[in-house]
Amino acid sequence: MTQETMTALTAIADEISTCTKCALHTGRTNTVPGAGDPNADILFIGEGPGFHEDKQGLPFVGRSGDYLNYLLEKIGLNREEVFITNVVKCRPPNNRDPLPDEIVACKAYLDRQIALIDPLVIATLGRFSMARYFPNARISQIHGQPRYDERRAYFPLYHPAAALRNPKLRHDMEADFRHLLEVMHEMRDKRNAATESPPIEAEHDDPEEPPQQLKLF
Ligand code: URA
Ligand code: SF4
Repeated sequence: MTQETMTALTAIADEISTCTKCALHTGRTNTVPGAGDPNADILFIGEGPGFHEDKQGLPFVGRSGDYLNYLLEKIGLNREEVFITNVVKCRPPNNRDPLPDEIVACKAYLDRQIALIDPLVIATLGRFSMARYFPNARISQIHGQPRYDERRAYFPLYHPAAALRNPKLRHDMEADFRHLLEVMHEMRDKRNAATESPPIEAEHDDPEEPPQQLKLF
């Protein structure tokens, strides 16, 4: 399963590397599809590649990335155990915000990555990824407060760059990361409980109708 997921994620990264679906392709040095564990329990979604990310083709490798590494370390995780990506996979010029039409153009890649990784928690970093799950919300009001559906939790976080710019946010950021770890454990327990007692439908043996779980992919 993990190997198949890895192969499928690599295929998406290959598609991204030649993508011309929005104007951001003209200014890029490298595409930044995302990186990490294909089987990650936590998927982080940032905004878009910056200067260093564009140079290296990897997400969060500049100052924001250093701070993200620090926050992960504080809760006993490292980058190899999570998956990190962005709402747009090419660098916006001069690090400007991604535009709505660019986010829409790039959306299918992110949707497919999420379906493959199927994380327990989707943690959004900043306003643009937050807007996917919490439209019209204000980050200062909802950061650290997850929303749940049957499958996973959505956990809004400040963008690391915001906390670097404004040291007053760092205390909240660290508290939110501790809470994020708790939510991940909570979701893991829920999914384990769900697989221990399979739903009735899983027992039917009609070959025309695959069990519910397989339909997700
Ligand atoms: N900021 C982001 O939002 N994403 C990155 O990959 C790096 C910095
Ligand atoms: Fe394609 Fe996304 Fe890059 Fe736009 S940002 S060119 S949609 S990969």
